[in-house]
Amino acid sequence: MESLAARRTRLMGPNVPTFYRRPLEIVRGEGVWLWDAAGHRYLDAYNNVPHVGHCHPRVVDAVARQLATLDTHSRYLHAGILDYAERLTATFGDGLTQALFACTGSEAMDVALRMAQAATGRTGIVATDNTYHGNTNAVAQLSARRPPLGGYPPHVRLVPSPDARAPLGGSMAAQPAAFAAAVARAAEDLAEAGHGLAALVVCPVFANEGLPGVGRGWLDAAAAAVREVGGVLIVDEVQPGLGRVGTHMWGHGLLRVAPDIVVLGKALGNGHPLAALVTRPDHMAAFRDRFGYFNTTAATPVAAAAGTAVLDVMADEGLCENAGRTGARLTEALGTLSDAGIARVTTHGLMAAVEVVDGTGHPDAARAEAVVERMKDAGVLIGRIGRQMHVLKIRPPMPFATAHVDRLVEALHAALAAAPLTEGAPA
Ligand SMILES: Cc1ncc(COP(=O)(O)O)c(C=O)c1O
Repeated sequence: MESLAARRTRLMGPNVPTFYRRPLEIVRGEGVWLWDAAGHRYLDAYNNVPHVGHCHPRVVDAVARQLATLDTHSRYLHAGILDYAERLTATFGDGLTQALFACTGSEAMDVALRMAQAATGRTGIVATDNTYHGNTNAVAQLSARRPPLGGYPPHVRLVPSPDARAPLGGSMAAQPAAFAAAVARAAEDLAEAGHGLAALVVCPVFANEGLPGVGRGWLDAAAAAVREVGGVLIVDEVQPGLGRVGTHMWGHGLLRVAPDIVVLGKALGNGHPLAALVTRPDHMAAFRDRFGYFNTTAATPVAAAAGTAVLDVMADEGLCENAGRTGARLTEALGTLSDAGIARVTTHGLMAAVEVVDGTGHPDAARAEAVVERMKDAGVLIGRIGRQMHVLKIRPPMPFATAHVDRLVEALHAALAAAPLTEGAPA
């Protein structure tokens, strides 16, 4: 019989991404647990889309009730979406009081780029050289991993990503200033080329770059360099947002930096396609005056019901506080890893990066992959990230508890023991 993987390729074409060498067929989810078609249960320590837990009954119920009442596009007035916009924007400071809704993070980021351009009258965009912000044409042009056909457009500049193993400027202390200097150089270059700087786009914790380790003030110099030339700061909160960092509702709160435009996605609807952009009224007006913007299936009553239920559950179950508490336990437990191939552990609440190197200190993607596969076989799901895909990425649904941390770290210990350190070639 044709396997699901073969059928997928036949029907959807080659190279459709899956996790794991032998992809899982997941058929059910509940809380922090997933079940495959054979009935095996997995602890989900990777998925950030089911933010308040897989199939949370309150989200399911809110969506189902609204679906049975009204599900239409966004060209009618509806109090539900305004109530949600009010609730969502109330979680921001810095004069960020207005929201625009989309279905995916990519769409929201696409709007953010155009908004920055409309607000500044310039076109230049600066991003880091090891990131992912989405898949529309304009946003995909920021990808270093899959460069655009025909090369990068002239208004895009990529600056080196911060890195924990090889920090910009030679040390972790020097890294923020070195990053800011690279941003300033890129802005100068864009000015000389006649584009000028519209925006710097970053994830506040650099999640796709492998969590290089940031804290209060880390982005201050870069933000100042952007503002000095009249650009705006776009932060991509698709991964760290909605309480994941444990101490703050948004990742940029951890850094105490004030963004101009914030992009949100994934977690917002707990799986229902809901993304948003939050900004100041002047930037919103600059965009709306120029482009209007209509998105058929965004800002619908059903999307609002999903988003509102997620905020309710977050508050009622204290999930931001839980991310802080359980995240502290995760930090402590990961600190007990005594393996010589673990070069670093970085955590921000319920988000962790564990960097795997070989005996000579070089990135060891093969061992990281072996660890991820072995953990999957032992019933615990994690992923990989980083320029060389050698960083273990842990980012569970937010109801993750201490007992789950213990099980995760026990499986990690076992997987590391079963995938021994590789010697590595001497430099
Ligand atoms: C940081 C970041 N930004 C934006 C996106 C794009 O979101 P979406 O897949 O909803 O378009 C992603 C998706 O992985 C992401 O990780």
